[in-house]
Amino acid sequence: MSVSVLDSSRVSADIAASVAAGPAPIHIRKSRKSRLPDIDMNNIPFGRVFSDHMLVAHCHKGVWGAPEIMPYGKLEISPANATLNYGQAVFEGMKAFRNKDGRTVLFRIHDNWERMNYSASRMCMPPVPEEIFVEGVKALVKLDANWIPSEEKGSLYIRPIYFAADEVVGVHASESYTFAIITSPSGPYYSDPVKVWVEEHYVRAAVGGMGDAKTAGNYAAGLLPDKLAKAQGYHSIMWLDAREHKYIEECGTMNVFFVVENDTVITPSLSGSILHGITRDSVLRILHNRGYHVEERRIAIQEIADWYNGSMLTDAFGTGTAATIAHISEINYAGRTITLPPVESRTLSNMVKQELGDVRSGRMADPYGWVTLL
Ligand SMILES: Cc1ncc(COP(=O)(O)O)c(C=O)c1O
Repeated sequence: MSVSVLDSSRVSADIAASVAAGPAPIHIRKSRKSRLPDIDMNNIPFGRVFSDHMLVAHCHKGVWGAPEIMPYGKLEISPANATLNYGQAVFEGMKAFRNKDGRTVLFRIHDNWERMNYSASRMCMPPVPEEIFVEGVKALVKLDANWIPSEEKGSLYIRPIYFAADEVVGVHASESYTFAIITSPSGPYYSDPVKVWVEEHYVRAAVGGMGDAKTAGNYAAGLLPDKLAKAQGYHSIMWLDAREHKYIEECGTMNVFFVVENDTVITPSLSGSILHGITRDSVLRILHNRGYHVEERRIAIQEIADWYNGSMLTDAFGTGTAATIAHISEINYAGRTITLPPVESRTLSNMVKQELGDVRSGRMADPYGWVTLL
């Protein structure tokens, strides 16, 4: 099916409905037949399979129309669309899980909503109301709950996207926007530890740019260096700061942590050019709760090399919604290889990974208020 995101008569009708009804209820139009029986849930490639429904809502001149859940399908876009031309677009990524009792769990959903609106404000876009983002995710995930894989097989990845919908060529902040949510069942993101390439030439973002917003353009900037790193056999880039090419920022879709002598945990501070990861924050909360000494500060890549040379670097891992905790097995910096200890010996990251999994699955009470049960 095809839905025009640009049809202004439709947008005005939605707005009229919303203004008349106050905060709009979510209208649900169900698909006639589920595609789920055709999907092999034991073998799901990440981000390529989408569940039966999606949510779409439009905003014009700051006024939101009624959100609608409808069968998953294509959006119709004009070549003059402002996002296609000028990249005014933000997105989010989060997951729904099945807990040990088979109930649906959402993790820190309000934090994703707040981060999307932070990103939106940086991109000159109006905020998405909580009733549309949070209630929209809940309604969509409830409707497609059968698409959530069992705990051991994976989770349902949730992708809210929000983009400019004006059909006007000429650089400007759009007057019309489309917000949509799609969901995608996924298995484990990285099953093996990851090898990372420290990028010394290209940069992802500079302070004062938009590196701390989850906007599409940041990912476009990383595509070429990522391709080059993959050609060398690495899974991900580790970015350095744009000014001095000296301090560690983050990985492609993960924040990073290092552990020195099994005790001191260090992660780059939120410099303004890296994403404030929700998993990063969860890891910090768990570590503080357990009495660990954590340093959030600038980390020179040379420090990592020095700790490695002094046999002091005991753990390194990435944190992110897709991967949760991804052990780093190897860091390539300036042609030299830093090899991390075997995963079994990584007491700290294994403990954090276990606790995050236990909170989500309900094996452990949630002392943080992170879990929403549907
Ligand atoms: C650039 C970047 N950094 C860090 C992260 C980790 O953020 P989160 O833990 O909220 O998924 C992501 C993933 O969204 C990312 O794309």
